[in-house]
Amino acid sequence: MSLPPTTTRFKNPRAKYNFQGRTCSISGVGSYVPARVLTNSELERMVDTTDEWITTRTGIKERHLAAKDEFTSDLASQAAQRAMERAGVTADQVDLIIVATITPDMPFPSTACLVQRRIGAHRAAAFDLEAACSGFIYALEIAQQFIMSRTYDTVLVIGAEKLSSIVDWTDRNTCVLFGDGAGAAVLQNRPNAHGLLTAVMGADGRKSDLLFMPGGGSRCPASSESIAGRAHYLRMEGRETFKNAVQAMLTAAEEAMRRCEIDISRIKCIIPHQANRRIIDAVGERLGAKAGQMFVNLHKYGNTSAASVAIALDEAVASGCLQRGDLALLIVFGAGLTWGAAVIEW
Ligand SMILES: CC(C)(COP(=O)(O)OP(=O)(O)OC[C@H]1O[C@@H](n2cnc3c(N)ncnc32)[C@H](O)[C@@H]1OP(=O)(O)O)[C@@H](O)C(=O)NCCC(=O)NCCS
Repeated sequence: MSLPPTTTRFKNPRAKYNFQGRTCSISGVGSYVPARVLTNSELERMVDTTDEWITTRTGIKERHLAAKDEFTSDLASQAAQRAMERAGVTADQVDLIIVATITPDMPFPSTACLVQRRIGAHRAAAFDLEAACSGFIYALEIAQQFIMSRTYDTVLVIGAEKLSSIVDWTDRNTCVLFGDGAGAAVLQNRPNAHGLLTAVMGADGRKSDLLFMPGGGSRCPASSESIAGRAHYLRMEGRETFKNAVQAMLTAAEEAMRRCEIDISRIKCIIPHQANRRIIDAVGERLGAKAGQMFVNLHKYGNTSAASVAIALDEAVASGCLQRGDLALLIVFGAGLTWGAAVIEW
């Protein structure tokens, strides 16, 4: 088995091996956000903040919130159904479901198992992946190993979050930043397509205390003390996280492009993690991105963690920004710390 012919546009990094596998493409994407919209003006009535502060410091105008009886697996299943429809794939064809999330429905069973039940993909293996906001790229890279090795033909990768369930709605430093939503991709081999060319993944556990949730795990199980100490809400050092995000996203993106022997001018659409407009602009500027090359939708959704680039990818495709044959650069960053970047021939 040989790789499809490359044009002079890029190099497939796998070409340097005696490649015996199959390439892995996204054959369909889909996303879902819950109906309820929470605007900045509503937040002004909840905490000591202003629309002006949130807009200028983050770029976020509104975010979507799941209903009380709507959970991460529900959002994930909706996005998955849409991606499967676009890919022309039925539930019984799915071999594996990976759900990237930090807000599973419950510690166990995995949200992926709940999605499997909900969409009726009863043949599929299923597990969750926790790499915080970087989860979707981590999941893509893992999924493509199964396609490349011919272990599975069809893998469903989902990034889904109900972050509103772990946000402290009395903390203005964090509650204005996050939202709920889900994005999904069906991964398969598409003959004569390169698909996912490369994915960079990185982590630095020494900085795990910049962004974390102390409660609910083995270290601090739920108790009246943990509830009184607000341990079941996320905590963040905003300024340090910001600095690390810019540097890590930049380094990951440069490494991914270096592997494909391309520069930024070859990329049709850059899809960065949607956390803060100023992070996106700083990364874009350092990469030398042109106006309009960076896809931005965070004004509508805020930071949806593992769902973020998946929702943005779906919207980039739906809006025509990204067409078959174009190169896309996905860049992520999150708690852990974790980061990643992927180059995809769409
Ligand atoms: C959180 C973030 C928006 C704060 O912006 P910033 O410009 O760094 O702001 P600072 O932390 O310097 O705070 C400036 C002031 O605004 C205040 N402030 C914080 N949130 C506020 C809000 N919602 N409304 C009004 N004021 C607010 C702070 O209390 C601080 O006041 P002080 O100077 O009196 O102490 C920014 O640091 C950020 O986006 N960090 C990265 C977050 C992220 O991406 N996390 C997820 C990674 S996956």
